[in-house]
Amino acid sequence: MGKTILVTGGAGFIGNCFCKLLLKERPDWKVVNVDCLTYAANPATIKEELKNPNYVFYKTDIRDRNGINAVFEKERPDTVVNFAAESHVDRSIENPGIFLETNILGTQVLLDACRKYGIGRFHQVGTDEVYGDLPLDRPDLFFHEDTPIKTSSPYSTSKAAADLLALAYHRTYGLPVTVSRCSNNYGPYQFPEKLIPLMINNATHDKPLPVYGKGLNVRDWLYVEDHCRGILAVLEKGRVGEVYNLGGHNEKSNIEIVKIILKELGKPESLITFVADRKGHDQRYAIDPSKAMADLGWAPTTMFRDGIKLTVSWYRENTRWLDDCTSGEYRNYYDKMYGKRSDK
Ligand code: NAD
Ligand code: TYD
Repeated sequence: MGKTILVTGGAGFIGNCFCKLLLKERPDWKVVNVDCLTYAANPATIKEELKNPNYVFYKTDIRDRNGINAVFEKERPDTVVNFAAESHVDRSIENPGIFLETNILGTQVLLDACRKYGIGRFHQVGTDEVYGDLPLDRPDLFFHEDTPIKTSSPYSTSKAAADLLALAYHRTYGLPVTVSRCSNNYGPYQFPEKLIPLMINNATHDKPLPVYGKGLNVRDWLYVEDHCRGILAVLEKGRVGEVYNLGGHNEKSNIEIVKIILKELGKPESLITFVADRKGHDQRYAIDPSKAMADLGWAPTTMFRDGIKLTVSWYRENTRWLDDCTSGEYRNYYDKMYGKRSDK
């Protein structure tokens, strides 16, 4: 048997893609998924993985120190990759507390367990949002690994704190830590509160597409599997104590994305509705991934025009998965977040 790798948040969008990649391409590794299944995790996501003898699942909260220690005691992982997080900016604006608890204190619990039981590597999955935003009129500017941390939302602030805490455990205790910071991901299994799946879901049901402000904010989109391959490259070729930016130089404004989705689904642009802007809305994110490319030999392989087709068709073919996510609590969420926004 190869490594035992503990993946937190492995029932979520990116963590599950990472588990799928490992089970496929590192068949001698044991994959231990620790996820407490928040609203963002649809249990159907991990249905196939549960049948794999190299995969085990623990329904455990990363904030639960005894629970996490028990998993470490039993599984003795040599590598930990921390995806588990509260991940939606809009929710962090409504309720910051849970973001600080999960994203910062949960990360501390994991780092302490790594110290207690010994570890070959702790990898923290970070976001480019820790660098704040770039102005729309300076396309020459990018986020580099040494760009100052300058967060805007409670979400990005909690993620910045987690990155810094992980790096502090490297410097102070010599824990073998790496950090990656990625741009916006898209692909199958993303919870439909984020831009792309929300717009696909609404357009499919001929519901208005709520574009914040004028839709001119820019995000740098990366196909989820490319992100996961980047993390694997950091684990296998990265140097401890280092940060690696992952992104694909694929910047698009929100309105461009929404129009591409409508075209792909054959739906009219009249569904677009401009609504009140997000508070503190970051203008532009843009990653310079040249360090990861040079040091790890990593590069994205899925072009946006292909990735978005794959994504739209996946949601078209998996209506049951989407319906599971959008029944019940999601409706209250949607009314709360969008009901008051529609009067721009
Ligand atoms: P997600 O919201 O889809 O999934 C998060 C997962 O973590 C869920 O399965 C949830 O149940 C689990 N989780 C949440 N709190 C937990 C807790 N206390 N204990 C155990 N499990 C818990 O998020 P995602 O989009 O897959 O993001 C994964 C990671 O990647 C996050 O750390 C996020 O900050 C980071 N990231 C995301 C993006 C993006 O575009 N989605 C970009 C860069 C970085
Ligand atoms: P999101 O998917 O929430 O990711 P992030 O804020 O982490 O980048 O949003 C992506 C962009 O889309 C962001 O500029 C906000 C915008 N947006 C909308 O215009 N309407 C929406 O309903 C959502 C969810 C996002």
